[in-house]
Formats: sequence, C-alpha cells, structure tokens
Amino acid sequence: MSFSLLSKTTPCIFFFILFSSTCFTSTDAYDPLDPNGNITIKWDVVQWTPDGYMAVVTMTNFQQYRHIDAPGWSLGWTWAKKEVIWSMVGSQTTEQGDCSKFKGNVPHCCKKNPTVVDFLPGTPYNQQVANCCKGGVLSSWAQDPTNAVASFQISVGRAGTTNKTVKVPKNFTLKAPGPGYTCGPAKIVRPTQFIQPDKRRVTQALMTWNVTCTYSQFLAQKTPTCCVSLSAFYNDTIVPCPTCACGCQSNSSQSGSCVNPNTPHLASVVAGNGKNNLSPLVQCTSHMCPIRIHWHIKVNYKEYWRVKVSITNFNYRMNYSNWNLVVQHPNFDNLTQLFSFDYKSLNPYGSINDTAMLWGVKFYNDFLNQAGPSGNVQSELLFRKEDMSHFSFGKGWGFPHRIYFNGDNCVMPPPDAYPWLPNAGSRQEVSLFALVTASLVVLVFYAYI
Ligand SMILES: *[C@@H]1O[C@H](CO)[C@@H](O)[C@H](O)[C@H]1NC(C)=O
Ligand SMILES: *[C@@H]1O[C@H](CO)[C@@H](O)[C@H](O)[C@H]1NC(C)=O
Ligand SMILES: *[C@@H]1O[C@H](CO)[C@@H](O)[C@H](O)[C@H]1NC(C)=O
Ligand SMILES: *[C@@H]1O[C@H](CO)[C@@H](O)[C@H](O)[C@H]1NC(C)=O
Ligand SMILES: *[C@@H]1O[C@H](CO)[C@@H](O)[C@H](O)[C@H]1NC(C)=O
Ligand SMILES: *[C@@H]1O[C@H](CO)[C@@H](O)[C@H](O)[C@H]1NC(C)=O
Ligand SMILES: *[C@@H]1O[C@H](CO)[C@@H](O)[C@H](O)[C@H]1NC(C)=O
Ligand SMILES: *[C@@H]1O[C@H](CO)[C@@H](O)[C@H](O)[C@H]1NC(C)=O
Ligand SMILES: *[C@@H]1O[C@H](CO)[C@@H](O)[C@H](O)[C@H]1NC(C)=O
Repeated sequence: MSFSLLSKTTPCIFFFILFSSTCFTSTDAYDPLDPNGNITIKWDVVQWTPDGYMAVVTMTNFQQYRHIDAPGWSLGWTWAKKEVIWSMVGSQTTEQGDCSKFKGNVPHCCKKNPTVVDFLPGTPYNQQVANCCKGGVLSSWAQDPTNAVASFQISVGRAGTTNKTVKVPKNFTLKAPGPGYTCGPAKIVRPTQFIQPDKRRVTQALMTWNVTCTYSQFLAQKTPTCCVSLSAFYNDTIVPCPTCACGCQSNSSQSGSCVNPNTPHLASVVAGNGKNNLSPLVQCTSHMCPIRIHWHIKVNYKEYWRVKVSITNFNYRMNYSNWNLVVQHPNFDNLTQLFSFDYKSLNPYGSINDTAMLWGVKFYNDFLNQAGPSGNVQSELLFRKEDMSHFSFGKGWGFPHRIYFNGDNCVMPPPDAYPWLPNAGSRQEVSLFALVTASLVVLVFYAYI
C-alpha cells in the first residue's frame, strides 16, 4: 500500500478524513501530497535612495494546487529599526499610522508593523507594476504558473543605504485571507540576477532576501469544506457523504443554518442573508458541505474501466473560479483518457505515481457556479487495467484514497460503508441488469439531491 510509504503524518490525515476531526498534533506545515509546497517572498533592493532603498517584492506561489482566492492575500511584517514607507506601487498598506512627526513630505505608512494588500484589477496604469493588481488572487503553480506570482514596489526610508546597514524586516505574516500560513525568518541570499529582455545584458539586485511561508491545515483550523460520495455499477447502494461531514443542521439561526432549495423567493433569501459575508450559505443537506464530489465507477471493460466524477456546489454565496481537485488512486499511473478536465500527474515521491491534479478547461468549466441548476461540473476518466488477469473491484479498490478540493481535504465515507461487490472478492463482469439499475438509481439520486 502506498500509504505506508508516505510519512508518519499520513495515518493521522487518513484518520482526519474518516472522522473529520483535527487530529494533527503539531503545527508542522506538512502536506504529504505537496511536501515542498510553499509561498516564497523575495525582496530585491534595486536602488539606494537618500535615506533608504527601493525594493521590488515578489511573492511566488510554489504550491502545486493550493491557490489564494478572493478577497486575496495580505502580507505583514515588523520593521527592524525605525523604517517608514515613503511610497508604494502595485499595492498599498491598509493603514497609514501616525506620521505626525513628518513635515513636508508625508510617508505612505509609518506603522512599525505594516500590512500590505494588493490593488484591485483596473488600477490606473501609473500605479501598476508587472504581476500586480489582481485583488490578491494567486493561482497555484501546477494550474497556472504565470498567475502564481504577485509583485509590488516599495520605497523605504530611514533604513540605511548599504547592504551592511539595512536590516531585514522581521515577523512576516501571510493571511490568505484567514490563518494557515507560517512564515520563516528573512534570509539574505545571493542577489537576484535580471536578464534583460534582449538577453544581451544581465543586471543584479544590490541585495536580496527571501522569506518562505508554508501552509498547515491545523493552523487554518477550518471545518471541512467538502465531502465525497460513492457509487458503482455493481451495487445499487449510493454511499452518501457522511452525515454532518461539514456541520450539522440545527434550528438556531446562527450556526448550522442552511437554505432549503424549495424556499419560495429563494433569491431574496440568499441575497438578504448578509451580502458581504464570506462564510458559506449552503443548501440544506445531511452533510452541510459547500462542495460534494461524487465518484461513480461507471463501466468495466475488458482492458479498461471508467469513472465519472461530478463536483456539485451547494454554496449559494460562492462561484468557484479556477477550482481544482487532487485525487489519489493507485491506477493514476495508467490513466488513459480524461474528458473535459485538464490533468497533471503529481509525483511528490518520485516513484509513486498515484496522485493527479484535475481542473476545469479554461472558459469551459473552470467556473463552478453557485448552488443551483448549473452548480456542477463533471468528467469521465478512463483507466487501463494494469494486471488484467487479477483485476478486481473488491475491497473498494475502485474508489479514491483521498480527494482534495482547492487544497482542502474532503471527508470520505468510512471504508466499511463502500459499495460492495455482490460476491466480494470474485472477479466482476459487467451485468447489464446491474448497470441499468445503478444508472437509474444514480439518475434518481441526482434529481432528488
Ligand atoms: C519552496 O518551493 C520551491 C519550489 O517547489 C523549492 O524549490 C524550494 O526549495 C522551497 N523552499 C523551501 C524553503 O522549502
Ligand atoms: C555587501 O556588498 C559587498 C560588496 O559590495 C559584498 O562583498 C557583500 O557580500 C555584501 N553583503 C551582503 C550581506 O550582501
Ligand atoms: C515577533 O514575534 C514574536 C512571536 O510572535 C514576538 O515574541 C516578538 O516580540 C515579535 N518581534 C517583534 C519585533 O515584533
Ligand atoms: C529565493 O526565492 C526565489 C523565488 O522567488 C528562488 O528562485 C530562489 O532560489 C530563492 N533563493 C534561495 C536561496 O532560496
Ligand atoms: C429543531 O426543531 C424541531 C421541530 O421544530 C425539534 O423537534 C427539534 O428538537 C429541534 N432541534 C434542536 C436541536 O433544537
Ligand atoms: C456567480 O456568477 C453568476 C454569473 O456570472 C452571477 O450572476 C452571480 O451573481 C455570481 N454569484 C456570486 C455569489 O458571486
Ligand atoms: C504518471 O502516469 C501518467 C499517466 O499514465 C503519465 O502520463 C505520467 O507520465 C506518469 N508520470 C511519471 C513521472 O511517471
Ligand atoms: C501501468 O503503469 C505501470 C507503471 O507505470 C507500468 O509498469 C505498466 O506497464 C502500465 N500498464 C499498462 C497496461 O499500461
Ligand atoms: C452494496 O454495498 C452495501 C455496502 O455499502 C452492502 O451493504 C450491500 O449488501 C451491497 N449490495 C449488494 C447487492 O452486494
């Protein structure tokens, strides 16, 4: 089993999937499916000024599948001395602070611990720099590396004007927008080299430091946001998401509130329920998750087998753009065809090729609409059987080990509830009757939920 090869935190995560309780015991930012994932913040001092320096700050999201969604990142730090920010291009601090000591020119920010946020799209050209002004949204590295970078320019005063007198800022914090990221100390590194567009000249920064931030689900302390339901052509049971996977329905109006899709005047209920609130407003279901992933083993061919994956949005308050799925299943080393999704094999441990990242095709299904009739996307996956003579769907082999939606671990049904083969263990041939029954049941299931 590939589980045993992964790491000592894996059983814990498996436990987490099953029982949806946070069992992480440390704040170690470690994700077994993306062990090197990080966001690196690089400061390049490009010019000395009379009382400090001008720097270009670049933030790169090296995480394979975790992105930063609206309302975007905010970056904070503590100055080591009495620095001030004279001006910024491409982003701004949220507060100016007390600049009453300054006569004449007033700095952009005098706070000891400034917080910087990105500009919104549509910022005037004279306040833009390359890779700025995306409302703090950062794509994941695997999905869209060109949009996984953010940058801004900062002019710092009272800072020292040599690489000996400049002190690196301390205590970097990255919010996305909630907690979850931990940033290490700034480290002075080899100055960045910039290759000119015509490649005929190389310039270099006067001084460069890097900060690395990593994500931990434990620190984020989020309740689960997605769950998995399962079905197969060989069994007419549909195994639903675990009850209360993301919360329980309750009568109280604050927590556990949900909207019944049959509510008359549904639109006004959704609109009236706190317009600027970012917390999900979900459709009433037994699992109360904003997102459900359904994995259906659809057909068994002689040399192949086919799976249908559907993602359903139950959140009335969210359109997911650039969504992604990470799926772990041992047969991903023999994925033969994939319909209407993009795909990248994630290979965090070199030899084990059992994890794939799936996402929507741009302008076609990369936008997962809010809850309602169009709030779903689907795809079919065709796998080649590696060892045809011993192939079996027994012991739930056809079901995924793990599914993430937008980097969040989805709650799976317990393994002993997986749909069974009629004669567990024996080789399974397609029975037309079973197929028809199961398809009907799935149809009814979708009409009903
Ligand atoms: C951050 O991620 C990049 C790309 O995966 C990797 O090269 C680098 O070593 C990572 N940095 C740290 C400190 O882990
Ligand atoms: C500062 O600059 C000098 C030469 O300009 C260089 O030798 C030295 O390594 C630099 N120190 C740092 C910390 O970058
Ligand atoms: C940085 O953070 C640590 C721990 O959060 C705190 O003890 C320390 O005082 C902070 N340093 C500054 C300069 O704010
Ligand atoms: C600093 O960060 C950049 C990415 O922005 C990376 O290319 C470089 O390797 C990092 N340097 C070190 C020493 O980690
Ligand atoms: C919710 O309301 C129903 C009927 O209105 C009641 O039977 C049930 O006990 C209530 N549950 C809670 C948790 O208050
Ligand atoms: C989602 O997108 C649709 C169509 O673009 C739009 O009408 C709707 O207001 C959006 N909903 C939210 C919650 O942003
Ligand atoms: C993993 O499997 C996929 C699908 O068969 C294949 O396209 C990809 O090249 C494999 N990757 C590695 C590193 O073996
Ligand atoms: C499936 O993948 C494995 C590992 O990459 C390879 O050894 C095997 O030949 C593949 N089987 C088929 C039927 O393609
Ligand atoms: C289908 O799977 C369920 C477990 O989820 C099991 O209880 C049931 O007996 C299975 N049905 C058949 C016909 O094997």
